[in-house]
Formats: sequence, structure tokens, C-alpha cells
Amino acid sequence: MSILLTTEFEPEIELETVLRVNDLRIVNEVDEVVLVGGVDFELRRGEVLGIVGESGSGKSISLRAVLGLLPAGLAVSAGTIELFGEDTSHFTKADWNRVRGSGITAVFQDPGSYLNPSIQVGKQVAEVLRVKRGLGRRAAKTEALTLLGEVRIHDPELVFRQYPHELSGGMLQRVLLAIAVSLEPRILIADEATTALDVTVQAEVLDLIVDLTERHGLSLIVVSHDLAVVAQVADEVVVFRDGVIVERGATAQVLRDPRHEYTRLLVSEHELYGLDRFTSEVAAHVS
Ligand SMILES: Nc1ncnc2c1ncn2[C@@H]1O[C@H](COP(=O)(O)OP(=O)(O)O)[C@@H](O)[C@H]1O
Ligand SMILES: [Mg+2]
Repeated sequence: MSILLTTEFEPEIELETVLRVNDLRIVNEVDEVVLVGGVDFELRRGEVLGIVGESGSGKSISLRAVLGLLPAGLAVSAGTIELFGEDTSHFTKADWNRVRGSGITAVFQDPGSYLNPSIQVGKQVAEVLRVKRGLGRRAAKTEALTLLGEVRIHDPELVFRQYPHELSGGMLQRVLLAIAVSLEPRILIADEATTALDVTVQAEVLDLIVDLTERHGLSLIVVSHDLAVVAQVADEVVVFRDGVIVERGATAQVLRDPRHEYTRLLVSEHELYGLDRFTSEVAAHVS
């Protein structure tokens, strides 16, 4: 293949879509209430997509559908979800197990609940490496310590031996991020991953998530009810309201010139405490 042809193809590779959600509808099968009423969004390789919207607007269940993890009683009633070009609608359990973890992974608001309270956290990281990456005991421990360092835990040896209740929320989220990136996924979803943390820790963990995303070449979806969180990191943003998307676009554009009344409200709320300054910085970068 000629060099010229290779060069020509590069932009297409850059723009590869890793996730495409098309007209997704989610219904509560018990009372037939439509919870998500047809949402479309896509994620390209290396992109950071922000999903913002008030509590209960359908962000988490949409992403749970994308992960193949809808709660019992909820079902996808229409639309399609394509992961890495594969339509997931006929995915078996085995298909999901193949894709989840090493293709797409997620961290949530409550990292502690994903860890076993009676096992040292380092052992839990190592166990994932043993089971999912087939590492031997020693190699798994070494790699777990490396990962704990990578998520900016200053004393990996000490933290390795600690139990979940000995760690703060921020530290637990770092451990969960270490587990998440350990399988070299291509998509990371951070669903309210910093919401429960103190403001300074929130900023540190958000910064870490972005750093991991860049270093591992991941595509990232940051989900938050807080526009400031999403605005700090996302290239593109979609705004959920009552199970539909009311606004979307490049983050800087949406912040500078929100079209929908609800987005305007979100932006104006944040002008009270500093998003205003952020917006003008973004605008300065863009123009
Ligand atoms: N397990 C569940 N069973 C029934 N309804 C649910 C369940 N989980 C979420 N819902 C409903 O789905 C809607 C969207 O919830 P969710 O996606 O969690 O909102 P968000 O993440 O935007 O705060 C809400 O009306 C919520 O009550
Ligand atoms: Mg949620």
C-alpha cells in the first residue's frame, strides 16, 4: 500500500465511532412508563463526551443499557446500541462478558460497594488481573502495585494491604479506576464518579480520569448532574431532560450560546460560582 493511501486513510481511523446509540428507548416493564424516550449519541475514538442533566433524567439507565446492565424490570423497547461496530441487541451473556471490562467499563458514585469489605484492596486488584488477564500470583501483585501508583496513590505498598473501610471515598475511587484501566478497555464511563467527593478531591479525581483517558487512549463518557464537572473535561456535551436530549454540541459552543431554555438555566446557575470564568477561558482557547 502506498504511503499516500495510508495517509489518506488516517483521518477515517481517527474518527472511528466506538459507540453509537440510535433512538434508544427504555421502558419500565412493570408500569409501562417510558423512562428514556429516544436518545441518540455517539462516541468517537479518543473523544470525551459529557452527559449532563438533572437527577432522574435518564442518564444512568441509558449508560446502563450501553453496558448491558439495565436493572431488573427495565428494558430497551426500541432503538439500537452499537459497540465497536457490533449491534448489541442480540448479545448473549457471553458476548457481554467478552465486551464488558476489556471493551467498555465504568466507575460509579459508590466505589465502596464494588469492593469486598473483608479483602485487602490490593488483593482485589490483583485478583482481577489473575482472573481476567491470566497473570500469575507474583506478576499480578507487581502489576497491581504499578496500577495503584498510576492512579496517584502515593504509598501503593501500604494501600495494597488496606481494607475498603480504611480508605476515603477518593482513594476508593482511585482503586476502582485502577481496576477499570487494568483490562485496557477502549471506553470508560464515569457516571457521577466524583459526585460524592469533597470539592478538592473531586477535582483531583476528575483530573486523574482525564489523565488515564489520555495515557490509555480511551474514549470517555463523563456523566454528571453538575454542568461544571462535564464542562471541565468534555469535548462534546449532550443535555438530558425527562428522558430526552434537549441540546447537544461542542462544549464551548453550548456554554457560550445555549439554545434550550433548560441549558440556559444550567449555565446561568453556574455563572454564580465560576463557570463564567471557565467559559471565557474556553472561548479564548477556541477562538
Ligand atoms: N431500577 C429501577 N427501577 C425502576 N425505575 C428506575 C430504576 N432505575 C431508575 N429508574 C427510573 O428511571 C428514571 C431515570 O433514572 P436515572 O437514569 O437513574 O436518572 P439520572 O441518572 O439521570 O439521575 C427515573 O425516573 C428513575 O426513577
Ligand atoms: Mg445517575
